[in-house]
Amino acid sequence: MGEIILQAKNIDKSFSNGKTKLSVLKDFSLDVDVGQIITIMGQSGSGKTTALNILGTLDQADAGELSINGKQVHDMNETELSTIRNRDIGFVFQFHHLLPEFSAIENILMPTWINGADDRRDRALDLIEKMGLSERKDHFPSQLSGGERSRVAVARALMNKPKLVLADEPTGNLDEKNANKLIDLLGKINKDFHQAIVLTTHNPKIARIGHKQFFLENGSLSEKA
Ligand SMILES: Nc1ncnc2c1ncn2[C@@H]1O[C@H](COP(=O)(O)OP(=O)(O)OP(=O)(O)O)[C@@H](O)[C@H]1O
Ligand SMILES: [Mg+2]
Repeated sequence: MGEIILQAKNIDKSFSNGKTKLSVLKDFSLDVDVGQIITIMGQSGSGKTTALNILGTLDQADAGELSINGKQVHDMNETELSTIRNRDIGFVFQFHHLLPEFSAIENILMPTWINGADDRRDRALDLIEKMGLSERKDHFPSQLSGGERSRVAVARALMNKPKLVLADEPTGNLDEKNANKLIDLLGKINKDFHQAIVLTTHNPKIARIGHKQFFLENGSLSEKA
C-alpha cells in the first residue's frame, strides 16, 4: 500500500428540504493513495457530487473524518483550507464553471492568480499543448466545443500541480470520441505527474481506468470485484 493522500472515514451527509431530511452519504469511507486513480459510478442522485464536494472541502460533512495529506480537515482554519483547495486539490466540476468573459488560457491561468508561480505561463502553454488546445487558447468558452471546454477545465485543474484531482463526470456531456480522448489525457497525466485522481462517471468503460473502481449506493462505496 502506498502513501495516503486522502482519507475519508464514516462520512455522513444529509440535506434537509423543509420538513424532510434526505440522507445522501452514510458511512462513506475512502482511502486514496498518492498517484492512484479511483473511479466512482452511481446512479443520478446517489451522491457523487456531494461526496466530491466534501472530499474537496467545499462542503462539510455532518459526521465522520476527513484528512488530506495527513492532516485532519476538522482542525484546519479557513486560511489553511483555502490553501489546501488552491495548492493541493484540482477541481474539475460537473458543469466546468469556466469564466465566460475570459479566454481559454486565462481560465487555465486562473488558479495561479492566487499563488502565482514564475513558470506559470510556460506551464499553461505546455498543458494547452498536451490537451490539444493550441489553436483554441485565445477563444472564449462560448466559442469552444463541449470537449474543448472539458479539456480547458482539466488543464485549469492541473495548473497548480495538485497532488489530488477531483473530477466530477468530466466526460458527462461528451461524445465517445471526445470522452476517450479526455480519459487518455487523464491517464497520461497521472503517469507523467503522478497525481491521484478521483473521478465520477456514468460510463462503465471510463470507470475501468480506475486502479480501484467503486459503486456509490445507499450512501456508501462498495468496491467492484
Ligand atoms: N444543496 C442541496 N440541498 C438539498 N438537496 C441536495 C443538495 N445537493 C444535493 N442534494 C440532493 O442530494 C442527492 C445527491 O445529489 P448529488 O448531486 O450528489 O447526486 P449525483 O450522484 O452527483 O447525481 P448526478 O449523477 O445526477 O450528478 C440528490 O437527491 C440531490 O437532490
Ligand atoms: Mg453529480
